[in-house]
Amino acid sequence: MTAPHAWPELTGIAYGGDYNPEQWPRETWREDVELMRNAGVNLVSVGIFSWALIEIAEGEFDFSWLDELLDLLHENGIAVDLGTPTASPPAWFFAEHPDARVIDRDGRVMGFGSRGMASHSAPAYREAIVRYADALAARYAQHPAVVLWHVHNEYGVPVGEDHSDHAQAAFRVWLQEKYGTLDALNSAWGTAFWGQHYTDWQHISTPTTAPSVVNPAQRLDFARFTDHQLRACFIAERDAIRAHSDRPVTTNFMANQSWTTDLWAWGREVDIVSDDHYLWAADEDAHIGLAIAADLSRSVGGGKPWILMEHSTSAVNWQPRNIAKRPGEMARNSLTHLGRGADGILFFQWRAGRSGAEKFHSAMLPHAGVDSRIFREVTALGADLQRLEAVQGSRVQAEVAILWDFESFWAQDLEWRPTDDVSHQERIRAFYERLWRDGITIDFALPGQDLSAYKLVIAPAQYLLRAADAENLTDYVESGGTLLVSYFSAVVDENDAVHPGGFLAPLRDALGVDVEEHLPLREGQTAAVTTAVGDSLNADHWQEALRLHGAEVVGTYRDGPAAGEAAITRNRRGEGTGWYVSTRLDAEGLSRLMSQVYADAAVAPAGLPEDLEVITRHGDDASYRIVINHADDDAALAATGQDLLTGIEIDDSFTIPAGGVAVIRSKKTRTT
Ligand code: GLA
Repeated sequence: MTAPHAWPELTGIAYGGDYNPEQWPRETWREDVELMRNAGVNLVSVGIFSWALIEIAEGEFDFSWLDELLDLLHENGIAVDLGTPTASPPAWFFAEHPDARVIDRDGRVMGFGSRGMASHSAPAYREAIVRYADALAARYAQHPAVVLWHVHNEYGVPVGEDHSDHAQAAFRVWLQEKYGTLDALNSAWGTAFWGQHYTDWQHISTPTTAPSVVNPAQRLDFARFTDHQLRACFIAERDAIRAHSDRPVTTNFMANQSWTTDLWAWGREVDIVSDDHYLWAADEDAHIGLAIAADLSRSVGGGKPWILMEHSTSAVNWQPRNIAKRPGEMARNSLTHLGRGADGILFFQWRAGRSGAEKFHSAMLPHAGVDSRIFREVTALGADLQRLEAVQGSRVQAEVAILWDFESFWAQDLEWRPTDDVSHQERIRAFYERLWRDGITIDFALPGQDLSAYKLVIAPAQYLLRAADAENLTDYVESGGTLLVSYFSAVVDENDAVHPGGFLAPLRDALGVDVEEHLPLREGQTAAVTTAVGDSLNADHWQEALRLHGAEVVGTYRDGPAAGEAAITRNRRGEGTGWYVSTRLDAEGLSRLMSQVYADAAVAPAGLPEDLEVITRHGDDASYRIVINHADDDAALAATGQDLLTGIEIDDSFTIPAGGVAVIRSKKTRTT
């Protein structure tokens, strides 16, 4: 087989959504394709939940309706992202293979009538998904409509962990492969504690509910195993497809909304990263969470263009309060994804479904029909994206990286931590938001990767840090980088065991400080920090008793259990600088801190009004500034070039209306 294509064969930015025509009569299909063409749709995802209507009995396939549908779409110039429906096996499958059902931690067997209830370790499931992927790819590999393969749907959601007998057996095999001997496992899991020492592999189980807290190293390995099992299923399907087709294969991630899968590892397995993102309605600045997801999607794909596989035109249906998007919000959301590297903007779903659990979910074509704000905005967005064809393939560049390590998150989220108040998500968002408001573009990165391209690396929540990764961070500082580490980092190694030498010990050289004791605060208790330049910064949740090993004290606790002691430190090491922040500063405190850190790193804030989001994509001959005004007021922006959305030439500045978007192309001037 030749190497898979790097990108679907499409002209321009991909635009469309999930399409579930099996829920509708044939007349509706014809209306759909006509409306899709009017709306500028060029790509739809098909077949994601169609298993029961295609493999009608084990090994018996009826592709007739899908043949008809793909031909209809192709005749109308609409390309297909063809799904394998393995997230939702048919009723007959569970009737024949009751052992393939998922069992949760509490021993409850997951029933039928929903989705995501199959055990990814069950041999019957593994066999069935490969059979289906093989049959689908054999039939449609040469179909001209099919430009992309969409395996499964959101691995790990709604079910990730599985404690069935099949999972138990597979977990033991996985452990034997990982550790080789029981001595190695006993040592890594620290089983001398609470008398858990194992003498036989068969005695080991998945970490099901127990009378008290289950061994955290066992749980961390189970999280790794779960991720591995899900990925093995993806790889099996992908390879079955690749045996027939050279078109790219993807599966839709849930960056920043699901933590079951290690997206760095998944990013290496897919031909193209694709991501689903839904605004969290309770968050009034949900567009910042959106930006995190978009930057993470780009980062796990190594910076290549990616596809926003799903988002919503308006409200979703699964949050406590499903807030409808306001006029213009869908376009702003879409342009943020595009600005942060997406070359495809797709939705869940094309036509709102009348039946089932998702009937209150918005769609491109809502229940209200074409005479609706949503459909008018969908059509306008389709036309806008056609004007942005030149942006396709251009790249985002970042000078700052924030560390994002799923393994560390899995470990930190286990029970019996020093306080419930410490949250990796909260700290990452706090630092990201500060940089977002300063107009600084961010990549996410792993602590062990090559960081030399970044002027500044921030570790807001690196609870688990491998010794080799700590060395990498230390080398980064010694070679001239600026590293900022936030509290409750470098606490444990890869087995959730405290580092020899204590908290922060692996980063002692880089930071010139370590941690003698954690000092969590009471609920509502605050602590102020006075800086060397006389600023007073507010903090809460957490303090640490620090031991200085050469760092200078930049901030001192004024109150709380560590009153009078160091709170923020700065260490010159080699050519670079290591900062350590041992408490939870509020937004204002973080702002004051970061202005000093930026100066060390020679990173310049964009100096734009807050809530004016500007991201640059760099092409071979031109750069594209994607401008999104999230504010209620118009904003002025210095720029030269052409707004591709309006065609207007801009000389030196222009006004971007409240809630508006623009994409300004500036030709690159060649110096040679
Ligand atoms: C997920 C799924 C879709 C749909 C949407 C609804 O992203 O992939 O099938 O359920 O959520 O928001």
